Amino acid sequence: MSLSLSVEQPETPAEATDGVWLECIECGETFAPFEDVRYTCDECDGLLEVRYDELPTFDDFDGEGVWRYADALPFESGVSIQEGSTPLYEVPRLEESVGVETLRIKHEGMNPTGSFKDRGMTVGVAVARELGVDRLACASTGNTSAALAAYGTRADMETLVLLPAGKVAAGKVAQASLHGARILEVDGNFDACLDVVQDLASRGEAYLLNSLNPFRLEGQKTIGLEIVEAFQADHGTWPDRIVLPVGNAGNTSALYKAFRELVQAGELAVDEVPKLTGVQAEGAAPMVEAIENDADEVRRWEDVETRATAIRIGNPVNAPKALPGIRETGGTAIAVSDEEITDAQRALAGEGIGVEPASAASLAGLRKLRAEGVVDDDERVVCLTTGHLLKDPDAAAAAGNDPEPVPADTDGVLESLASEGSSE
Ligand code: F0G
Repeated sequence: MSLSLSVEQPETPAEATDGVWLECIECGETFAPFEDVRYTCDECDGLLEVRYDELPTFDDFDGEGVWRYADALPFESGVSIQEGSTPLYEVPRLEESVGVETLRIKHEGMNPTGSFKDRGMTVGVAVARELGVDRLACASTGNTSAALAAYGTRADMETLVLLPAGKVAAGKVAQASLHGARILEVDGNFDACLDVVQDLASRGEAYLLNSLNPFRLEGQKTIGLEIVEAFQADHGTWPDRIVLPVGNAGNTSALYKAFRELVQAGELAVDEVPKLTGVQAEGAAPMVEAIENDADEVRRWEDVETRATAIRIGNPVNAPKALPGIRETGGTAIAVSDEEITDAQRALAGEGIGVEPASAASLAGLRKLRAEGVVDDDERVVCLTTGHLLKDPDAAAAAGNDPEPVPADTDGVLESLASEGSSE
C-alpha cells in the first residue's frame, strides 16, 4: 500500500483539471477527475483518492460548514443544505467517569439529515452534476439513503436507494421516502446491496454515491478539519485520539486523509496526528479482526448482526485506505457488544446528547479501551457520534424509560408520581 503519513506532494499529472486529479492508492495511476465516470482504478481496480496540486493551510479556511474548507475540496461550492459546523460538546460527567484528561463529543447527528453523510453528499452530488449524470444510487444501512435522497432532490436528480429489507431504522426509511427516493428493499444484507448497486453503476445505470466514491470522502474530511480547529481553539492543542464507529471505514479513511494533507501542508507534525481508533459491533467486526491479526486484508464476514444496524456491515470496502490510517497514526480497533452500545447510548443521553446506537459505539469502545489500559488517563479524546437519536426511534424507546399510563386528573397523576417510577 502506498499511503503514508509523510508522503511528499506528488507532481501534477497532465490529466489534472484545475489542479485536481484522481490517483490509485495501489498502483499510482492517475486519471482526469470529471471527464469519465470511474470509481476504481482502470488498471488494477484499486481504490482512488482525490489529489490536489496545492494543499491549503488553516489561514485559507473561511466561513461556515463544509464549504469553509473549499480550498481542501474539488470545488468552491456544492449542492448545499448547510451541512457541517457540528458541535464539539463538553461532557464533564462522562469525562470523569471514563477517566481521561479531556473528552469531547463531535455530534454529527446535528447535520441537516441527521448524520455525517451530508458532508459527503454536498460534494458527491456536485461532482455528479459536473459529470452530467441524471440518476444517483446507493446501497445503504439507512443514513446514506436519507442524505442521498435529500441532496439528490435538491439538485433535481433522480435517486435510487437499495436497502437491506427489515434492517433499516424507521427514521431513515421515512427520510428517504419523503425526500422522494425510489426505495428498493433487497432480500439480503448491506454488502449484498452494495454488490448490486456497484454492478448497476458499472453498467452505467446510475452514478454510485457510496463511500467507494472518492469524492464523498473529500466532504467527510471536513469532520477532521473541524475537530482539530475547534479543539485547538479551546485547548491550545490537538486531540491525542479520535474514536469512531466503523462500518465501511469511509470516515476512518477520510479523517486519515485530512490529517495526511495537514501534515503535507506543514500544519501538523507526524507525531501530532490523532490516533484513529475504530469501533465495531461484535457481530460485524471484520476490521477489528484484521487489526488484531495484523492482516493486510480484511476477510468478508457473510453473516453479520447487531442492534446498531447502521454498522451491520461485513465487507468494509474502504479497508485498504483505513487499515494504514489506523496503523500509521498509532491507533487501534476494538469490538463492543450490543449491551455495551446501549449502555453508552444511555450515558450520552444522560448528558443531553441523543445519538443512534451505532454512534454510541465510539463511547462504548473508549470505555473498554480505557478499562483495558490501552487508553491512558492523560489522553485528550474526541468521540465521534455519527447519527441522531431520532434516526432509530425504536432503539431509543427500547433503551429508555417506558411511558406510564395515568388518569386524566391531578389526584390520579399525583398518586402515580408517589409510586415507584418505571425505568427501562
Ligand atoms: N455511523 C452511522 C450512524 C452510519 O450510518 C455509518 C454508516 C457508520 C457509522 C459507519 O461509517 O461506513 O464511514 O465506517 N452508514 C452507511 C449507510 C453504511 O449506508 O448509511 P463508515
